[in-house]
Amino acid sequence: MLIRKVSDILSSEITPHSIYLNRRQFMAGAAGLLLPVSAIAALPAAKSPFSSTEKPNSRNDITSYNNYYEFGSGKDEPAIYAGKLKTRPWTVTVDGEVNAARTFDIDSLLKMKLQERIYRLRCVEGWSMVIPWVGFPLAELLKQVQPTSRAKFVAFETALRPGEMPGVARRVLDWPYREGLRIDEAMHPLTILAVGLYGEVLPNQNGAPIRLVVPWKYGFKSIKSITRIHLLEKQPPTSWNMANAREYGFYSNVNPEVDHPRWSQASERRIGEFFKRKTLPFNGYGEQVAALYRGMDLVKNF
Ligand code: MTE
Repeated sequence: MLIRKVSDILSSEITPHSIYLNRRQFMAGAAGLLLPVSAIAALPAAKSPFSSTEKPNSRNDITSYNNYYEFGSGKDEPAIYAGKLKTRPWTVTVDGEVNAARTFDIDSLLKMKLQERIYRLRCVEGWSMVIPWVGFPLAELLKQVQPTSRAKFVAFETALRPGEMPGVARRVLDWPYREGLRIDEAMHPLTILAVGLYGEVLPNQNGAPIRLVVPWKYGFKSIKSITRIHLLEKQPPTSWNMANAREYGFYSNVNPEVDHPRWSQASERRIGEFFKRKTLPFNGYGEQVAALYRGMDLVKNF
């Protein structure tokens, strides 16, 4: 289902991004456009010390091998169908256990201090990628709405637009796609809202115009195309947990010692590589996040 043979990997997928960009600029020029394509969508971002030093996957890997079930369950379907999603106008409502609930226009969020964060993404299915996100800490947004002392959890919701999302006609999940974090996970400096990748605005298949990235958790926690963030006292229901609680827990911290009921989580295949590599606890971010779970049984709380 998810492993591609080396022979399936197109040479275009390993094109260095600078060459890719130059080629796009050349093509834009040849087509008589006034501005190079990359200049239209570029997002200036400062480098972050939280970035991984590993080599990022190619832009083509990152934008053509996706999970976004609102556009189908095939890895290639989001790239084919997500173009239909209208990402303007777009607002994100942040409400619930807060003193200053607010609805943010996406263009005001693009004016936040943006950083490039190169993070590993480990999918629960057994593959991984390294992705140069552009975004800002979720904590920066939450502080603006002033969480109350009762805010113990944060719930997230993806837009639900049957007319633009062909995949929601099938009830694979109970739409809208929902995710949740504990408030300390949400406020952790590694947790970001991403608005771009490779220095440009986020492609729709990666969750435009704004998606969550929680690098120490399995990829499905990183919910795409968010329209609502709701702070609450009780742990919120989450899509994959509702669909199959035995296989997908609320925490879903990357844990090589806790097998998925149908497969081992001990290793992973980096997209573009042939040999498997060992999966690291907390996806390699243990030094920064293990303290959040001190005293918790991470086999029970998987
Ligand atoms: N968010 C929504 N709304 N719908 C989805 O189907 N899939 C999740 C997550 N966020 C998903 C989603 C899964 S399973 C993964 S692995 C990541 O998105 C994949 O992110 P990427 O395609 O940007 O690599």
